Amino acid sequence: MKINNIKYTQDIDENLMITTFENELIQTIINILKNSIDAFKEKLQENQKLSVLVTEEKTHISMEIEDNAGGIPKEIIRKIFEPYFSTKSKNGTGLGLYICKTIIQEHLKGGNHGAKFRKHYKNNNSIT
Ligand SMILES: Nc1ncnc2c1ncn2[C@@H]1O[C@H](COP(=O)(O)OP(=O)(O)OP(=O)(O)O)[C@@H](O)[C@H]1O
Ligand SMILES: [Mg+2]
Repeated sequence: MKINNIKYTQDIDENLMITTFENELIQTIINILKNSIDAFKEKLQENQKLSVLVTEEKTHISMEIEDNAGGIPKEIIRKIFEPYFSTKSKNGTGLGLYICKTIIQEHLKGGNHGAKFRKHYKNNNSIT
């Protein structure tokens, strides 16, 4: 599927089920996808790719959202979850990832395992 000029692929095991707060989970996914789309807008590169991978791990279900928009510079990686941290001057509140982190850590704790937000600084974002 192509959105704007982004080639979108997904690999999701449709049989997997989780019990969670659906709206909150959707909100975090939207925030992360929006960040990828924003990053592509800044880059204007060819061959834009965005993918979602959902897999079953031993103790949890993992979702990885990955883009090839260049990644997050090492210098800012520690700050991206802080409230109001944004590199998008006027266009970003800087709350997107802060909200994701809060939702995942505080509200989406499931079973014995809880929820963990992992963000690779290269070019892929994942929730496990
Ligand atoms: N996929 C990504 N690729 C490159 N940089 C990213 C990506 N996701 C986040 N970032 C960086 O992390 C910063 C913080 O992201 P966050 O979603 O919290 O705020 P924002 O996107 O700037 O504002 P808002 O979410 O309100 O639109 C961004 O400004 C950007 O610099
Ligand atoms: Mg954002």
